[in-house]
Order: sequence, then structure tokens, then C-alpha cells
Amino acid sequence: MHLSSTLAAAVALPLASAQLNQLAQKAGKLYFGTATDTGELTNAEYVSILTNTKEFGQLTPANGMKWQFIEPENGVFNFTEGEIVSNLAAKDKQLLRCHNLVWHSQLAPWVTATTWDKANLTAMLREHVYREASHWRGQCYAWDVVNEGLNEDGTYRSDVFYDTLGDEYFKIAFEEAARADPGAKLYYNDYNIESPGPKSEGAKRIVRLIQDAGLRIDGVGLQSHFIVGETPTIDQQISNMRGFTDLGVDVAITELDIRLQLPADAENLAQQSVDYRTSVGACMQVKRCVGVTVWDFYDPFSWVPGVFAGFGDATLYFDNFTKHPAYNGVVEALTNNTKCKPRPSKMLKRSKPLIV
Ligand code: G3I
Repeated sequence: MHLSSTLAAAVALPLASAQLNQLAQKAGKLYFGTATDTGELTNAEYVSILTNTKEFGQLTPANGMKWQFIEPENGVFNFTEGEIVSNLAAKDKQLLRCHNLVWHSQLAPWVTATTWDKANLTAMLREHVYREASHWRGQCYAWDVVNEGLNEDGTYRSDVFYDTLGDEYFKIAFEEAARADPGAKLYYNDYNIESPGPKSEGAKRIVRLIQDAGLRIDGVGLQSHFIVGETPTIDQQISNMRGFTDLGVDVAITELDIRLQLPADAENLAQQSVDYRTSVGACMQVKRCVGVTVWDFYDPFSWVPGVFAGFGDATLYFDNFTKHPAYNGVVEALTNNTKCKPRPSKMLKRSKPLIV
């Protein structure tokens, strides 16, 4: 389901010359990027936008670096699927966010089918993380080292790694990733940690866990899979980001999409534009928010309709490659907030609420 071209034309603003990565870099960010996947690369019109570095300066493989592709059998490594996107990024000199080394989902079946003890799971996990991260050594701007390790209440998620190793598995993963690729920024990445609350506190606990062990963690990835009209406010997003950067790590918006209840109409598209502007605007206001990645930019390639019945049109481009009004919301955020305001000293008396 998608918007008729008449309606799309009526709600789209004429900012055709604006290009997202160019604007983001001009405003002091490292990149504006997108996720993509191998099956999408046969669509020539899609690829021409994907590889336009004025539009996207960074790519994330949506699937190809996940465990099921990388180590489909114990000790058998296959990097082919992940290399499709990493080679594409290298060709066009786009930054690469590598995703991901350890996750409870999209594991190879043998991982959950095996009965592990602490010693053999530690050895296996070290081997997996080291082999994968060293394969792409020097190519990844950042690695999502551990993905989605938390429950909604901020406690650790039960999975094969946590159930056998406890929180030790985070340390193992970050230690091996650092050893394998000293130049890559190492991130913890999760959803529903974009506003202050128990899950965001859980992510801070992970940052401190790694730091207290004397290991390196460089950033926290805020996935930002949102629903139109229900996104956290800009103040919530900014103060949440600052909660992480105060620990001495970067943040990035790593998987932004904002789904709407179909059908799209002028009203929900206008709200979606506001919501995209809010999230990108929050990143613009926080110096250590290094960049924004959308979780694909073309509606037909979004994961949303397959998972959330009745929802869709979550990205920046419609089926016919016209732009959502939200594209202009992003442009506004990238152009209206070009300066990161200095953070007032804690001693300073303020008349206005602190947003930086
Ligand atoms: O590989 C099989 C293929 O062999 C089969 O023919 C096909 C039939 O449906 O399925 C293929 O697997 C699909 C896989 O993507 C690779 O394309 C799965 O069905 C599909 O469920 C899977 O979805 C991915 C999802 O992660 C799985 O959780 C999405 O594409 C991907 O965008 C999504 O990305 C995640 C991030 O990694 C972490 N954060 C949430 C985000 C959205 O779910």
C-alpha cells in the first residue's frame, strides 16, 4: 500500500537539491547513512541513490554480517554475504558500520542446539568474535559488538550467551573485538534505549561494565525504530544521549525508521516528517552523536510491513522513488541545527531548561 502520486506531490516540499550526507557533514557530523541488503542491489534506481555519496556517506549491511551467514557451522567461516556490502562501501568510499558480532537472533542453529559449559562457550565466542572482526580489520568505522542484550526493564536478556556466561560475555566480546580491530569504534547497540528509563539505564550499566573491566567501549547505538506520533520528544532524546556521552562514549542513531499505520495520508506523513526531524535534530544538538543511519531508505525494502501488520511506509522514499515529506524533515534538522550549542557548566544558573 502506498500513497497516490497526486497526494505525494501535494505533501512533498520542493527541496530537491538537498542531499543528506552532504548536509550532515557540513553540519559537523561524520555521516548520514543507510542500511542495505544484498537482495536489493539488483534494483538500479535504488543503487544509484544508495551509492550517491552526497546522499549516503555510510552503509550498514542489514543481514550479511550476522552469525547465521558468518559461521553457519561450528568453526566454518564464510564472509561472502557480508563482503557484498563492505565491498560496495569501499568502492564508493562510504563509511561502514559493521553489524553485528554477538546477538541472540539470526544465530546459526548449531549455536543454540549445542549444550555449552563456561569454558567451551567462552572459547567458541572468542574465536567467533576474533575471526569475524579481524576479517574486516581496518574496514569498519564501527562494530556493533553486542546487539540487543537487554530486556525492557533493563535486566540482561536470557539467551545462550547470558545463560551460560552471565555478564562476562559482554566483556569477552568487547575484549576480542578490540584485539581483532584496534581501529574500529566498538558499540553496544539496542532499541528502546532512546529516552531515559530502565532500559537506557541498563545500557549505561553495560558501558560501565566494560569500562570497569579496563576494556574499550566507544559508543552506544540508539536503533530508533519508532512509530509515527509516538516518538520520544527532542528533550528526552537529547538528555538520553547526554546520559551516555557523560560516560565518555559516543552515540549514534543506528537504525532509524518511523512506521505509520497504513494507509499513508497527508496527516500521518506530516507527523512522520516532524518525528524524523525530531530524532535527527536531537543528534544535531549533541556533539558526540556522530551520525544517523536509516534502516533502509526505500519503503519496499523495509523490514516493517513483514513484522508489524497494518504498518509500513517507514522510510524516506515511496515505492515509486518519490520522497516522503519526512525527507524534508531530515533536511530541516540538518540545516536548522548546524551548531552544537556548548554545554553550560553545571554551576551556571540557567533561565531556560538545559537541552544540550
Ligand atoms: O535468508 C533467508 C532466505 O534464505 C529466505 O529465502 C528468506 C525467506 O523469507 O528469508 C531469509 O531470511 C530473512 C533475513 O532477514 C535475511 O534476508 C528473514 O526471513 C528475515 O526475517 C530477516 O529479517 C531481518 C531481521 O533483522 C531479522 O531479525 C531484516 O532483514 C533486518 O532488517 C532486521 O534488522 C534488525 C537489526 O539487525 C537489529 N535491530 C532490529 C532490526 C529490525 O528487525
